[in-house]
Amino acid sequence: MTSPADTALASLEFAVTRNPAARTDAEREAALSDPAFGTVFTDHMVGVTWTDGEGWHDARVQPYGPLSLDPAAAVLHYGQEIFEGIKAYRHADGSVHTFRPDRNAARIQRSARRLALPELPADVFTQSLRELIAVDGAWVPAGDDQSLYLRPFMFASEPFLGVRPAKEVGFYVIASPVGAYFKGGAKPVSIWLSEDYARAGKGGTGAAKTGGNYAASLLPQAEAYEQGCDQVVFLDADGNVEELGGMNIVFVFKDGTVVTPASPSILEGITRESLLQLAADRGHTVQQRPISLDEWRQGVASGDIVEVFACGTAAVVAPIGQLKGHAFSDPQPTGSLALELRQELTDIQYGRREDTRGWLLRLDA
Ligand code: PLP
Ligand code: COI
Repeated sequence: MTSPADTALASLEFAVTRNPAARTDAEREAALSDPAFGTVFTDHMVGVTWTDGEGWHDARVQPYGPLSLDPAAAVLHYGQEIFEGIKAYRHADGSVHTFRPDRNAARIQRSARRLALPELPADVFTQSLRELIAVDGAWVPAGDDQSLYLRPFMFASEPFLGVRPAKEVGFYVIASPVGAYFKGGAKPVSIWLSEDYARAGKGGTGAAKTGGNYAASLLPQAEAYEQGCDQVVFLDADGNVEELGGMNIVFVFKDGTVVTPASPSILEGITRESLLQLAADRGHTVQQRPISLDEWRQGVASGDIVEVFACGTAAVVAPIGQLKGHAFSDPQPTGSLALELRQELTDIQYGRREDTRGWLLRLDA
């Protein structure tokens, strides 16, 4: 999909149109006081257009607002869409930083390949975040556990009902100030085991961050809520644990070994990768390998598994306190590692601890 000219493209000139109806300082401060996840949006958004032939062009910062789409736009029919999730953090000195954007840039390129969308050059991805912060930097909240959640996304805008990769695509970034994802902060969450529905299949799109995977998770997620659970966990066809609807899962064993599922059909989380690095740097053995539901339940019953937690950009780290299925309900052991790693990770992200690994990128300078 991507021509050599596209990949050579290192940066684009962004045209900036200021929002004449931008919120006043007082309105913004009110909106930032206690934002529920994904409900409040900033005054601007980034847009970049791709067409077959012209490649990536028309890079712009524009007022946040509705998109005008042809009803035949391919995304509305065939779901050719991908997205990312990444945060901007305000440090005590007022500066604004993001976390490992190279990883998100690479992941949206992998997602693009799987969804037959054009690959956005990594530098344009990062530049788009900088451009948005340049106009909406005041929207990065400064409160505890608050951040500006950035949502880059790309979709097939071409009006065409034939089934083939679209020749016209839009890339956008919107931004939403957020606080803690789960009400109750880092208190343990309960997980519903999806026994009737899968999220991904062999050779499917599970490793891509594409809307369809989330659409497939909504019914089992609704079932989870009905069962009084916060999140849903999916298995593969062989009974191996995959991940949650919007988070990866990690197991801590009695001997300190930290295990997370290896599977070609889960989303390779950047939070997970970073936490495992922090655990390895503390001397923990870290394994990425298949782990079955049986091993999980038996490990908890025998005391071999001492902690289970979920992790992702939106939720950061959430200890798992209960695993529930149609015919069982297992309390899960909670330990201290999940919360210690959460503290270490967020200390780096918020600039309270030295970033010795080069994970942060300053966005406002
Ligand atoms: N798995 C799924 C399905 C997700 O939606 C997410 C969230 O982005 C993750 C895992 C965790 O990925 P990351 O840590 O990169 O946010
Ligand atoms: C994220 O953590 O960034 C996600 O995309 C998960 C989503 C469920 C909010």
